[in-house]
Amino acid sequence: MPLMDDLHEPLEEKESSRRRFLSLCGAGALAAAVAGTGVVGFRYLSPNVLYEDERRFKLGRPGEFAVGSVTALPRRKLYLMRTARGFIAMSAVCTHLGCMTQFEAAGDRIFCPCHGSRYSREGRVTGGPAPRPLPRYELTLDKGFLVVDTRREVGEDFVLEVPA
Ligand code: FES
Repeated sequence: MPLMDDLHEPLEEKESSRRRFLSLCGAGALAAAVAGTGVVGFRYLSPNVLYEDERRFKLGRPGEFAVGSVTALPRRKLYLMRTARGFIAMSAVCTHLGCMTQFEAAGDRIFCPCHGSRYSREGRVTGGPAPRPLPRYELTLDKGFLVVDTRREVGEDFVLEVPA
């Protein structure tokens, strides 16, 4: 005859259900720990990059930019200019030590706040320690969109001529 506790449940059954409950809790905790470690490990081992080509991208349609305009794209570290001849895509990174430059519309120049390099709006050095002009990048017209490829530098005189 089994021993009975004060709730009249056999003690073996009560002990057995408590063991089962504790085993389930332990298994659940172990599964959560393994899953958490797996997720963290996967994220650690996965490269933290975007798989789209971030160095060749659309800038917009030519008609969106007025003649004489300078459009700063700080996230892309780029200037897009429209001159009377056409379009120029130019790096906004100072050639001295790599600070981000700023276009100053009032002075019609590009200025580096770090050590005072100055560039003309076409990117030629006009003062300060910058050793070279701001590089220009290949610009093409693809299906009606201006597309820049920042992997490909072009000469200082490159201008993408777009029919008006
Ligand atoms: S980084 Fe631009 S002047 Fe030094």
